[in-house]
Amino acid sequence: MASPRPPPLLLLLLLSAWAPPSCGSPQRRHWRRQRGAGRALGCGAREEGTGTGTGTGIGIGTGTPGRMGRLPALLVRVPVRCFGGSPRARSAMPSWVIDRYGRNEVLRLSREMALPAIQFPNEVVVRVHAASLNPIDLSMRSGYGATALNMKRDPLKIKSTENEFPLTLGRDVSGVVMECGLSVSYFKPGDEVWAAIPPWKQGTLSEFVVASANEVSFKPKCLSHTEAASLPYVGLTAWSAINKVGGLNQSNCSGKRVLILGASGGVGTFAVQLVKAWGAHVTAVCSHDASTLMKKLGADDVIDYKSGNLEEQLKTLPLFDFILDNVGGSTEKWALDLLKKWSGATYVTLVTPFLINMDRLGVADGMLQTGVTIGSKTVKHLLKGVHYRWAFFMPSGPSLDEIAELVDSGKIQPVIDQVFPFSEVPKAFLKLEEGHARGKTVIDVVNKK
Ligand SMILES: NC(=O)c1ccc[n+]([C@@H]2O[C@H](COP(=O)([O-])OP(=O)(O)OC[C@H]3O[C@@H](n4cnc5c(N)ncnc54)[C@H](OP(=O)(O)O)[C@@H]3O)[C@@H](O)[C@H]2O)c1
Repeated sequence: MASPRPPPLLLLLLLSAWAPPSCGSPQRRHWRRQRGAGRALGCGAREEGTGTGTGTGIGIGTGTPGRMGRLPALLVRVPVRCFGGSPRARSAMPSWVIDRYGRNEVLRLSREMALPAIQFPNEVVVRVHAASLNPIDLSMRSGYGATALNMKRDPLKIKSTENEFPLTLGRDVSGVVMECGLSVSYFKPGDEVWAAIPPWKQGTLSEFVVASANEVSFKPKCLSHTEAASLPYVGLTAWSAINKVGGLNQSNCSGKRVLILGASGGVGTFAVQLVKAWGAHVTAVCSHDASTLMKKLGADDVIDYKSGNLEEQLKTLPLFDFILDNVGGSTEKWALDLLKKWSGATYVTLVTPFLINMDRLGVADGMLQTGVTIGSKTVKHLLKGVHYRWAFFMPSGPSLDEIAELVDSGKIQPVIDQVFPFSEVPKAFLKLEEGHARGKTVIDVVNKK
């Protein structure tokens, strides 16, 4: 039986699934050449009403390979930002933070968050024009994943701060590069970019955010910042599940029968458009009121999961080559029976116990439990002739480059449920918590009210 990817044994010892990509695309390398060698020092961009400047400081960094080429661990000079005229403007910025885990009341607007500093030569500072919310923001607000994320934040426990607070949530950003680390040659101040910031880093519900240049990509030209901010996290998650884990791509997807469970949310609306753009026959499962949206996005069949027994409805259809499960829970018990046997057909779920196991059992036992679970399920289903996989969001500028091309060619459109001003972030969280998303909840950061 053809295998889409090697089995994710021991869940890839997990956090490695979240490691930044190790190399840039050839196109990126080509662009980099076009742009010439890196600047001697990073420098700041100028935006309306915001003075900027450049100084130098000392940082210790281990460069990541790829867009900037590999750098050894070294002492480097990094620029020190100077975004504003007044001392206060230079040192502080507004951010939505939490100081403890809990429900919505833990969200606090701080005007005293320190401006983010470039720590590594491959980092950039981005002025956030728009951000968006994802279910992980709700989960992280309540402490989900804290054990694993804190281990990733400070594996050797050498940081001076005792905990992760104040913590800024928000993973998506569309904005403008303000400053680049010394080894960044692919971007320059003033570039309009988008990115999804991994969850162990400070988030994007803030005026500025620091990202690795490997995580950043040029924003699609045809989208506004508000539109662009709706796509990176869900787009990269769908890309990871469908392409990296599921093995589907433009050249092998044509005519394949693809089932998307939970098609009306952020990941689902992106996934429907992606596999459709690659020529698949798409069956979307959502509730009745989302069926018009699904048809508009290109779904060939739309099944209402609230009208009768979903499993029975789907069993009346021809078998599938690929299933993306954005719902989880009991769907896993029957969905794999809908796949073609012994043909390389694959079920990929985004709803996994990976982080919960570590929260519940601690790092070592949690990883062991996760490894046993994924290993046993993979083998059990392999013996029945189908592939069973877990997928995770993976930050990746090069993948965002490919997504940007699909967006600019009109094959993928942003699907926005509602836009909130920066001052109403808690309302946006409540909206997300109500469920029934039809695309994304976006935060307009620049047009603060
Ligand atoms: N593993 C990872 O790294 C990763 C990354 C991103 C997301 N995720 C997970 O993937 C899931 C989807 O994320 P998302 O951002 O798309 O969430 P979302 O925007 O909140 O969308 C969820 C959608 O599912 C629909 N839905 C709920 N129950 C359903 C059911 N039984 N059958 C079909 N549709 C159903 C909801 O609409 P109605 O309720 O109105 O039907 C909603 O449109 C979440 O559980 C999220 O935590 C995992």
